[in-house]
Formats: sequence, C-alpha cells, structure tokens
Amino acid sequence: MDEKKVMLSGIQPSGELHLGNYLGAIKNWGARAEEFDCYYFMADLHTLTVRQVPAELRRHTLEQLAIYIACGLDPEKNTLFIQSHVPQHAELGWVLNCYTMFGELSRMTQFKDKSAKHAENINGGLFTYPSLMAADILLYQPDFVPVGEDQKQHVELTRDVAQRFNNLYGETFKIPEPYIPKTGARIMSLNAPDSKMSKSIPEGCVFLMDKPEDIQRKFKRAITDSDTEHCVRYDPQTKPGVANLMSIYAACTGRSFAEIETEFDGQGYGAFKPAVGDAVIEMLRPIREEAQRILADKAYLEQVYRDGAQRAGYVANKTLRKVYKKVGLVAR
Ligand code: TYM
Repeated sequence: MDEKKVMLSGIQPSGELHLGNYLGAIKNWGARAEEFDCYYFMADLHTLTVRQVPAELRRHTLEQLAIYIACGLDPEKNTLFIQSHVPQHAELGWVLNCYTMFGELSRMTQFKDKSAKHAENINGGLFTYPSLMAADILLYQPDFVPVGEDQKQHVELTRDVAQRFNNLYGETFKIPEPYIPKTGARIMSLNAPDSKMSKSIPEGCVFLMDKPEDIQRKFKRAITDSDTEHCVRYDPQTKPGVANLMSIYAACTGRSFAEIETEFDGQGYGAFKPAVGDAVIEMLRPIREEAQRILADKAYLEQVYRDGAQRAGYVANKTLRKVYKKVGLVAR
C-alpha cells in the first residue's frame, strides 16, 4: 500500500548543532513528510569514535531531538529516534564491516581528517565508522539520503557496499542516492573560510541556539577578503570569505547570487556582513524559541524517542533478518 519513497539521515550529537548542519542537512529534510517516508536520527554511537563527556553527550542528544522538532519535523509524520535505541544498527554494522574493504576505509576523507585531529586516539571505530553509517542507511532501504557535501563520500561507499552484497546474495538492499542541497552544501568557517564550519572552530561557527547578539558579533568579525575591490561579488576562488557569506545569505533568503550582488551594489562589506547576520538571526529565532520550549518538556521528548525507536526498530528488524538469513546465520 505504502508507495512513498523513503528518506533518511542522521547527525552526530557530538556538540551543539550549527548553521552548517542546518543549511547543509536539516533544512533540506524539512516538510517532506507528505511526499516521503522519513527517518531522522541522532547518531550517538558514531560520536564514541571521539572521546565524549557522558553528561554532555546525553544533553546534546536530547537537545538535537528538540531542534529537529523545532525545525518542523513533526514526530507524528517523521520517525525520529536515537541510533543506540535500535540495536539493529550495531548488528548490521558488524556484518557490513565484513563486506567493506580496508582500502576503501583508508580512502575516507573524514577518517584522514579526524585521525590527524585526534592523533592520540585513532581507534578501530573511527576507521570502520563508514560501515556503521552504511548500516544506518541500508536498514531502512531509503531512496534518498539528504546530507551536506562532506558526507557524499560515505553515501557513495554505502552504495558500493550494498551493490557488493546484492551481487553476492541477490537483491537485498535498495541502492540509495545522496541528496545534496544546491545552496548551503558546504558552509565554511566564518573566521577561516578555507575550513568547513564545525564546532572545532567555535568563533567561526554559528550554533543554532546562539543568542542573536552572539550571532551578529560572529558575522561582524567574519573574515572577508584582502582584495582592494571591497565589493560583494561571487568568486569562490579569489573571494572565498565573501562567497561563503553570500552562500549563507542565499540559503537564508532564497535569493540568487546575481540578486545579492545587485542588492549590495555600491555598498562595502560593512553593510553586507550585518545584513547576513540579521538574515540568519531571523531564520533561527523561531527555531531557537521553539526548541527551548520543547526541551523543557522532558516527558514529551521521551515519548517521541520511545515511539520513534519502536517504529524504526520494526523496519530495521525486517532488513536485518533478511541479511542474517542470506549470509547463513541460523534463525532465532
Ligand atoms: P555530521 O554529524 O558531521 O554532520 C551532520 C550533517 O550536517 C552536514 N554538515 C554540513 N553541511 C554544510 N556545511 C557544513 N559546514 C557542514 N557540517 C556538517 C553533514 O554533511 C551532515 O549531513 N556521518 C555523519 C552522520 C551520520 C549519517 C548517517 C548521515 C551517521 N549515520 C546516516 C546520514 C545517514 C556525520 O558525521 O555527519
């Protein structure tokens, strides 16, 4: 009966959600429940690849759920859950580890970046992380995986692993497509436009729960460019800082780069930077207020994640049983 296509994505609750997570991912998930069967989760097992403070991990996980809802993901219409509450993720993750090659895992950019950043803790989980991500995805047989540009490589690996498994055992997994937004797929740090926006550079990172005055301060201090032209023109090669601000403004307002150039024609960065700050503040204001309201209601959040885990677990279990049978494990 249910002919809807399936969409699935997740975010690691390893810190507070930021503008890159919103523009690159969540904004692209929203308001699709009429069209798609949607699964969105907090990828808490993934965060363990880097040391976490336990109480903060718990807080960030619930805060992330509240923000998902505040961003318009109605829990009645979208399945919202915590990854570790659906044990099939870890179970299929193990199986897929055995179908993912060492060479493939060695090529993953996120592994290379994180092992450079955490040289004292290059653990096995960090290396095999993409197999768990493949399991996250393939359990739900999604058509689309809406992610930012930096996760495309992992979704492509997921496709290769799924194809390999299907070739060996017959049609088991649907082959998912990455779904990358046209604007906002790669938001850069405000004070280091050659690095992607991430919580590891907090001053260049706008958190969704930041107060308006903090957001405005970060935009006013944003690095623009050292050229003498001082005009708002989209040129990512020679003006990466301005191009990044333009991408943010475009993603918030829906305006094209040409329209933005016209809007700020003859005005310097002094007018442009606070205008981007204001657009972001106004876009985030209702989300922050609604998230704070939801976060105060712990019983409601608990009901949402319990219900989500039950719905997700039902679907995940069907896929896992199929996989176990195909590889030759004796049915329980
Ligand atoms: P994570 O938690 O690093 O990021 C979550 C989402 O936010 C996007 N994103 C960005 N987009 C634009 N500009 C940025 N600066 C930026 N920073 C982050 C990411 O592309 C991502 O869509 N492995 C995943 C989490 C994950 C997952 C999954 C995703 C686990 N299992 C299954 C999809 C499906 C990760 O580390 O994303």
